[in-house]
Formats: sequence, structure tokens, C-alpha cells
Amino acid sequence: MTGSHGHLSSPKNADLTRVRRPGTRIIAETGRLLLVRPSRADAGVVRAFLLENRGFFEPWEPLRGDDYFGRSAVRQRLAQTARDTRSGSALAALIVAKGTGELLGDLSLSAIVRGPFQSCYLGYKLGRRHTGRGYMTEALAAFVRVAFGSLKLHRIEANIMPANEASARVAVRAGFTREGASARYLKINGRWEDHDHYAILNGDLE
Ligand SMILES: CC(C)(COP(=O)(O)OP(=O)(O)OC[C@H]1O[C@@H](n2cnc3c(N)ncnc32)[C@H](O)[C@@H]1OP(=O)(O)O)[C@@H](O)C(=O)NCCC(=O)NCCS
Repeated sequence: MTGSHGHLSSPKNADLTRVRRPGTRIIAETGRLLLVRPSRADAGVVRAFLLENRGFFEPWEPLRGDDYFGRSAVRQRLAQTARDTRSGSALAALIVAKGTGELLGDLSLSAIVRGPFQSCYLGYKLGRRHTGRGYMTEALAAFVRVAFGSLKLHRIEANIMPANEASARVAVRAGFTREGASARYLKINGRWEDHDHYAILNGDLE
């Protein structure tokens, strides 16, 4: 579609693909990408990203009703992420293209547990238009460096459905190894799905 009521091609909506002022909250930087701490002010761009990729993410995520994509729901999740980050139980990053500021995807660590465990779970996703260019491989390598360097975690676990070959390749390329599998481990898109457990360890802490 074109014109003033156009879809993603109109200037107003083009702005909805860009993260504003990412330079003020950089977690890590790579050749092509910035990893940026999300804020509530990103609600519009995050919501547009989720809506654009709804069908693409659907096979790999829990069932998401329409409420999940509402403005206030997105804003509330971003606020919760900020609280969890402050309390030390999570870390999230928006993946932003350096030149254009476009939002490409995100990464998150959740359920960070300290004590003798020093471990957490990893999630990530990339917009369909941006796949197949090595962006997630580049972003994940930098994110693991932050988790092991600044956060001093010892282990990161990623749970991947065997059918998700692209995700498994990304994890392995970033240094994760397959430790095992669990049957009917997570309820994904309405069904309890088997998952492979991939993990990476921080040898610097040993
Ligand atoms: C998985 C995902 C993050 C990969 O992002 P990406 O930026 O395309 O990844 P990269 O380009 O760094 O690497 C992808 C690798 O998988 C390969 N690949 C891409 N699509 C594939 C597919 N459908 N089947 C098999 N391999 C595939 C690519 O060729 C590349 O491998 P190679 O370069 O070694 O040949 C992205 O596809 C995505 O977000 N998918 C939906 C959400 C999701 O699955 N999240 C993870 C849940 S565990």
C-alpha cells in the first residue's frame, strides 16, 4: 500500500520500525548491531515488530491471544522487564541495526538464579525480513559475552524444539552444546512439545 494511509511504507509507520535514541542505553556493540536495553518508550516499535511477525513466531512460542499485542500489554511487559532487570532476575536486549536504528529482534535471559547455580534461560527472536544474514549469530555471541563478563553467570540454557533447525544452528555456532532432551517440556502454540536442552558454560569462573 502507498499514500498517506499506506501501511509500512508511509513515513509515520516507517518510524515505527526504528528504536529511538538507542545510543543512550547500549549493552553491547558488534560490527553491524547494537544490543539496547529496552524501555517503556519502545512500546510502539516493539508492538509493531510483534504484530508484523506474529505468524512467523507462532510455531515457536506459547499461544498468544489478541490481548498480548495490545498497547498496554506491551507497555506493561516492558515495565516488568525493567523491574526484573533492576532486581537482577533478568536481562533483555533489543537488537538494533547500527546504521538505521531499525528493530531487528530481541534476546533475553530469564530466571537468573545466583548462589551455587549462577544460571539462567535464554530466549531470542529475529524479524522474518532479517533472517538468514547471520544477525542472530552475531547478536548472541555478544549477549553471551555480557552474561559471562558483566553478569558473571556460569551457565546459560536454551531450550529448542528439534524442528527449529535455524535456532539450533545459531546456538551451536555461539558455542552451545546439546546436553539432552525432555519430552513434552514446554507448551508451545497450544501443544506440549519435546525440547532439546542446549547450554554454554563460562570457563572463566572455573
Ligand atoms: C532462529 C532465528 C533466531 C535465526 O536467526 P537468523 O539471524 O536467521 O540466524 P543466522 O542467520 O545467524 O543463522 C541461521 C542459520 O540457520 C540456517 N537456517 C535459516 N533458516 C533455516 C531453516 N528454516 N532450516 C534450517 N536452517 C536454517 C541459516 O542458513 C544459518 O545457517 P548457516 O549460515 O550455518 O547455513 C530466527 O529464524 C527466528 O527468530 N525464528 C523465530 C523465533 C525462534 O525460533 N526463536 C528461537 C526459539 S528457541
